[in-house]
Amino acid sequence: MKLIDDIKEKARRLNKRIVLPEGTEERTLKAANQVIEERLARIILIGKPEEIVNLADKYKLKNIERAKIIDPTSHDMKDHYINMMVDIRKHKGLTRDEAMKLIENPLYLSVMMIKNDNADGEVAGASNTTGDVLRPALQYVKTREGISVVSGAFIMIHPDTSFGDNGVMVFADCAVHPDPTDKELAEIAVATALTTKSILGIEPRVAMISFSTKGSAKHEMVDKVVNATRIAREMAPDIQIDGELQIDAALIEAIGKKKAPDSKIAGRANVMIFSSLDVGNVAYKLVQRLGKAEAIGPVLQGMAAPINDLSRGCSVSDIVSMVAITATQSA
Ligand code: ACO
Repeated sequence: MKLIDDIKEKARRLNKRIVLPEGTEERTLKAANQVIEERLARIILIGKPEEIVNLADKYKLKNIERAKIIDPTSHDMKDHYINMMVDIRKHKGLTRDEAMKLIENPLYLSVMMIKNDNADGEVAGASNTTGDVLRPALQYVKTREGISVVSGAFIMIHPDTSFGDNGVMVFADCAVHPDPTDKELAEIAVATALTTKSILGIEPRVAMISFSTKGSAKHEMVDKVVNATRIAREMAPDIQIDGELQIDAALIEAIGKKKAPDSKIAGRANVMIFSSLDVGNVAYKLVQRLGKAEAIGPVLQGMAAPINDLSRGCSVSDIVSMVAITATQSA
């Protein structure tokens, strides 16, 4: 697909260091082999070196010998990372003994590598839950400056090219934060606009989605979207953002013109921001399943470094694409 090919090309140019904590997981190892073959990133695998080498032999993955392999129980940086962990989390009561145990967990080791600039990004989740992947990242890598909330965006590729940009749209938050405040919703909008620019290279036109268009309904849920729109504009005056808009007014030109005639976004939005995770998660799955769109993600955004979660049902090619996306996010 052209979009993924473009993302891969960009990743190739950037040549980033991506850490894969699930280094002995079969699909992850096969994806690592392909990433190295396609020169999309430099790969760091976490796991027992003998085990990884044996598995690579078993699956005939000859490129794995070009990956860097870190044994989570024994490596040069262990003490340094333990000190960093205690330093970062002592206000939460983290003891040295606890840090010594945590650092042997590949998901914690990976985020500490990123924190210490020994890796540029991470992809995990083929065998771990979303919560287990996110928690170490939220605790140690934390959010980027000016953003307090991490969220998850999906790149939606719809067969009807009249939507968004040639059928390409970005939806958020579909994966992380259940019930954002108006300020957090504004941050999610700004972060999603940046994701759209950095990964897809297209100019975001952000619609703040509601069940109301420009005052057609009155409710506190509508007020949240109206306030979020105002805050997002203040945060990022250069980004085109409008709301509150119903989804049909955001997407379909004729309806946009009718319901929001003065809006520059109505009818031509390519980024949809949903008011809660309930709406965002259901929306992307409906568009994917009933609308037959391809859904790529969740791409985690708002984190100080790119860390992405996979579905446990992911394929090798999903992991390869996510490594390429992660590399482009760290640009
Ligand atoms: N953004 C930034 N920081 C956050 C966020 C967030 N969205 N959520 C939690 N944090 C921080 C907390 O402030 C806390 O920091 P601190 O320890 O320094 O004080 C730290 O992360 C841990 O927070 P907890 O609330 O203790 O973490 P919790 O275990 O509850 O989980 C999580 C956080 C995993 C993100 C949770 O909100 C969650 O499970 N979200 C829903 C995920 C999900 O199931 N999505 C749908 C499926 S995905 C799909 O369908 C594609």
